[in-house]
Amino acid sequence: MSDENRIRLQKMREEALRGGGEARVKAQHDKGKFTARERLEILLDRGSFEEVDAFVKHRSTDFGLDKQHIPGDGVVTGSGTIDGRLVFVFSQDFTVFGGSLSETHAEKICKIMDMAMKVGAPVIGLNDSGGARIQEGVVSLGGYADIFLRNTLASGVIPQISAVMGPCAGGAVYSPAITDFVFMVEGTSYMFVTGPNVVKTVTHENVTSEDLGGAMTHASKSGVAHFAHENEVHSLMAIRRMMGFLPQNNVECPPRKPPTDDRNRRDMALNDIVPDNPNKPYDIKDVITRTVDDGDFMEVQEHYAPNIVVGFARYDGRPVGIVANQPAVLAGVLDIDSSLKAARFVRFCDCFNIPLVVFEDVPGFLPGTEQEWRGIIKHGAKLLYAFAEATVPKITVITRKAYGGAYDVMNSKHIRGDYNYAWPSAEIAVMGPKGAVEIIFRKEIAAAKDSEQALEEKIEEYRKKFANPFIAAERGFIDDVFEPCDTRPRVIRALEILENKADSNPRKKHGNIPL
Ligand code: HXC
Repeated sequence: MSDENRIRLQKMREEALRGGGEARVKAQHDKGKFTARERLEILLDRGSFEEVDAFVKHRSTDFGLDKQHIPGDGVVTGSGTIDGRLVFVFSQDFTVFGGSLSETHAEKICKIMDMAMKVGAPVIGLNDSGGARIQEGVVSLGGYADIFLRNTLASGVIPQISAVMGPCAGGAVYSPAITDFVFMVEGTSYMFVTGPNVVKTVTHENVTSEDLGGAMTHASKSGVAHFAHENEVHSLMAIRRMMGFLPQNNVECPPRKPPTDDRNRRDMALNDIVPDNPNKPYDIKDVITRTVDDGDFMEVQEHYAPNIVVGFARYDGRPVGIVANQPAVLAGVLDIDSSLKAARFVRFCDCFNIPLVVFEDVPGFLPGTEQEWRGIIKHGAKLLYAFAEATVPKITVITRKAYGGAYDVMNSKHIRGDYNYAWPSAEIAVMGPKGAVEIIFRKEIAAAKDSEQALEEKIEEYRKKFANPFIAAERGFIDDVFEPCDTRPRVIRALEILENKADSNPRKKHGNIPL
């Protein structure tokens, strides 16, 4: 190679690495944010990043853009590895035109998405962008739509992860929204369809960016974000951790780790975890962490609809998705938000061959006008639909209440639960004892000399007869009843038996989940 060519290549490479220049990089750091390349260094295995399209430049000539060309055009793209496994990445560079999306910027993202689909590897997008490149107009909007189409076609084929690490406004929010998991950073990342200024003009509300679309807003109120971390390093590390639970694509199984925890471990403390009083709460996360490998549970959407708990863990090294009612919050009732949260998680696991383990303690669906008028029927139906259509190995452990429609919904035998277990404390019935006797013995109780005492007697009679797992077990709706301390070994054995499970749904274009 001639010296001239070597120097030219070196110069162009250095220019691309400089991004928007020192002052803009400093401004980025002053905001507590890393640059696009620094983020990739943290996210990927050391030295694994393989960049493409570092020399791409935009083609615009309007508004003086013909005089401003920065190689890479505001997004760094390529591939790398996480714990040795291939991932494709794009990382928007806010120091170049505010990370705004031009025609060529979009083409770069589409190129790596197409490559990821061809080789069957996940895509991780690090978003930090002022949205559509204003100077390019509709060409930029077309670029967004090209990305949305690819997000949609890749959905359920390869895992797609979005980190929002800066502003994300306008239609730009819809790419992360279509992807499987959204990670945000407290204090520096925002997602909104329109920012505070437009909100003020249209609705006369005064709201800060943080309140309108900050990390905790989306992690706790809207459910748009699955994770809110205090800084970018924690966020990127959490993405690395999550990737360890996921397969590369929808034809692979999730990666089994060499087991590090005794598969026969019995936990005697579980035998006392459910209080004698059925109306007393306990923390279902104790049940989860006491049974999974090394107590390692990666909770998803921790701050949203906490009356249901979802997340990833391993049993004897095998990744699973856990869905658990949380009696410590609203008695574990199913409402709209918890149904949506769990339904999406169940569908993700089913897309990617991740077995489901369900811990059930649910008093039913939340009654009332607020829920009915907002459509608890169609939203609750989503969870029912998600469990019913899932063909991955499905295990349920009923720890206490399994009442009413919620019994059916929470991965019951009737909707293809493979192993349905119960602890002796399980109460499987149409409704709770008090509600039930008030309906079926209303006349007797009213006619009794002492109505209070009659009610108590009937409740006790009902509880003895129905509030247990054995009637369901007689029917075969429950495969076995075991002591809580045996939960870990029993779940592990069930997962082992189901390892080669093959089930399918009727051929169709796609189902019509009640959206
Ligand atoms: C071109 C942009 C830009 C954009 C920012 N910049 N946004 N250039 N197109 N959309 C440039 C700025 O000119 C500036 O360039 C640099 O990026 C940094 O921007 P600042 O405003 O100085 O930064 P900051 O104060 O941190 O504010 C960031 C911001 C603000 C909140 C993102 O820039 C902003 O409001 N931008 C516009 C957001 C927006 O309305 N986008 C369109 C959304 S609609 P210099 O050269 O000075 O460094 C949309 C439609 C998509 O995206 C539809 C898809 C369906």
